[in-house]
Amino acid sequence: MTHPIINDLETRHTAKRYDATKRISQKNLAVIYEAMRLSPSSINSQPWKFIVIESDAAKQRMHDTFANKFQFNQPHIKAASHTVLFAHNPKYTRESYGQVIDADIKNGRTQQENREQAFGGYAFVDLNTGEDGNNAAWTRAQTYIALGNTMHSAARLGIDSTPMEGVDAELIGEIFAEELDGYVCDVALVLGYHDKTEDYNAKLPKSRLPAEQVIQVL
Ligand SMILES: Cc1cc2nc3c(=O)[nH]c(=O)nc-3n(C[C@H](O)[C@H](O)[C@H](O)COP(=O)(O)O)c2cc1C
Repeated sequence: MTHPIINDLETRHTAKRYDATKRISQKNLAVIYEAMRLSPSSINSQPWKFIVIESDAAKQRMHDTFANKFQFNQPHIKAASHTVLFAHNPKYTRESYGQVIDADIKNGRTQQENREQAFGGYAFVDLNTGEDGNNAAWTRAQTYIALGNTMHSAARLGIDSTPMEGVDAELIGEIFAEELDGYVCDVALVLGYHDKTEDYNAKLPKSRLPAEQVIQVL
């Protein structure tokens, strides 16, 4: 099949080694940040924070989060151009949703007089919230939508990436406590340009289950 979307998805791969001499341009970074921000989420909740690791100091801190586990992912942090922490709010509240509604009012989607009515969608959050106020399973799921959207946007720009669940959420929570401010990072995305000689995954054929197995058109 030939189509630009299919070409993006067939040619992108999870980079296993990065070219440390290459950095993403500011122009492309701006596109990636906007793609992240525009990601859809349930009830437009946007229960996320995208923390971008760019400076050498931040890279050193991120590098240090691999002290205990997932060391196979550690080399990417310093070699690649950027790493984005996709963090979720484990206790999304009515107040959090109030910020979304206020943005809707500012952006002309909701009239000020309908503010209370707009909280109707919050029923969805209640359905996904435990007695202790924890709704992390639901907010975490939203970050994966942004992750996929960012990966495809990067591919469109010819930028390589590595999604990583192999990150130490606990140590990231300690080392980036100030920036996370209670949010939790279970998944991150490395961005940059793969090393043409060392990245074995670039040379492997794409492999997925057959369409007949995973897609049923009724
Ligand atoms: C949510 C998620 C987490 C992943 N975690 C890691 C990881 O920690 N390290 C890694 O090298 N690859 C990781 N991968 C990459 C997958 O193994 C890869 O996407 C899959 O094998 C398909 O290969 P492709 O991305 O090259 O098409 C992850 C992928 C996803 C979507």
